[in-house]
Amino acid sequence: MLTARLFRPLSQLPGKSLRFYDRGNGTRPEPLGPGAPLLPGSRRAFSDEVRPVGSKAVLVTGCDSGFGFSLAKHLHSKGFLVFAGCLMKDKGGDGVKELDGLKSDRLRTIQLNVCNGDEVERVAEVVRSSLEDPEKGVWGLVNNAGISTFGEVEFTSMETYKEVAEVNLWGTVRMTKAFLPLIRRARGRIVNISSMLGRMANPARSPYCITKFGVEAFSDCLRYEMYPLGVKVSVVEPGNFIAATSLYSPERVQAIADKMWDELPEVVRTDYGRKYFDEKIARMQAYCNSGSTDTSPVIEAVTHALTSRSPYTRYHPMNYYWWLRMQIMTHLPGALSDRIYIH
Ligand SMILES: NC(=O)c1ccc[n+]([C@@H]2O[C@H](COP(=O)([O-])OP(=O)(O)OC[C@H]3O[C@@H](n4cnc5c(N)ncnc54)[C@H](OP(=O)(O)O)[C@@H]3O)[C@@H](O)[C@H]2O)c1
Repeated sequence: MLTARLFRPLSQLPGKSLRFYDRGNGTRPEPLGPGAPLLPGSRRAFSDEVRPVGSKAVLVTGCDSGFGFSLAKHLHSKGFLVFAGCLMKDKGGDGVKELDGLKSDRLRTIQLNVCNGDEVERVAEVVRSSLEDPEKGVWGLVNNAGISTFGEVEFTSMETYKEVAEVNLWGTVRMTKAFLPLIRRARGRIVNISSMLGRMANPARSPYCITKFGVEAFSDCLRYEMYPLGVKVSVVEPGNFIAATSLYSPERVQAIADKMWDELPEVVRTDYGRKYFDEKIARMQAYCNSGSTDTSPVIEAVTHALTSRSPYTRYHPMNYYWWLRMQIMTHLPGALSDRIYIH
């Protein structure tokens, strides 16, 4: 009975009865509809914001689309001086055009591939030299750039593991190391975008999960080291927002699947068989259309991490189904959580 309840996806939960009440600020409870994403901890106090925001500079990576694109616009609207790192700046990507179209001195797009060490160093120098007083440093770095893929361990090539880690994990480390001298000067903030899959693993997601688990470990080590220096480090762990961003599309899933099948070792192809493989791909295709289409919980979490005097260590913008699953998978013995969610 309990197991059945925990298995039920959010769409089947009695959404109308879910309510959230913040005793702290007396907000009136709002009903949550069946598709409503929110959210444990969705209302936060912004009354203790650091000020003035206007003089503070932040750099966000991966602003061509998705969370990064929305974040760049939102942080700009909050008054920050925003450096929006874009992978497609030099190629005239759509996201870049739209951000540049705002024609604001406080929103500057900048070519940035987080895998390219020279480019990362150049960006740090460009940002430093464009500050009014470089000795005051940069207030915030948001490591958002990321890619994803899927596939069982036996379906995933070593090249794929390395490719995903190069962006998600080493890109985060590379950016952080390049910006720490500036962030330390400001006694500022580092916000790393991880994932719920950085806390709990999932079958067929190992190339992504290991990078996000790595981001979590890196963030914890950094937080301990930076505490005495006044730099605050937060991790944001979004749930499923696939429908709202460009992380996956049915076309991308199909392209990955075709390449994967072509490159599979013969023994794996024969042992698993085409039927099993196709079923897994179909499941992934369905996943592309799932999740929340509203990215505001993620945007709000990052904004809180950058502006609150007391930012949280971890933010969990996700719906109740995933939040409960994450609590169970991270707090109960593996034998129990495996039985509920995996077996
Ligand atoms: N969407 C979700 O459900 C979800 C859930 C949990 C965590 N996340 C995390 O959220 C972050 C943002 O993803 P998103 O969902 O907003 O997907 P997205 O729309 O694909 O955004 C990711 C951005 O990163 C950029 N990027 C890719 N490789 C890069 C590189 N080497 N250097 C610099 N930028 C690069 C992409 O550029 P192009 O568009 O040009 O490729 C894109 O603009 C990622 O870290 C992701 O893992 C997402």
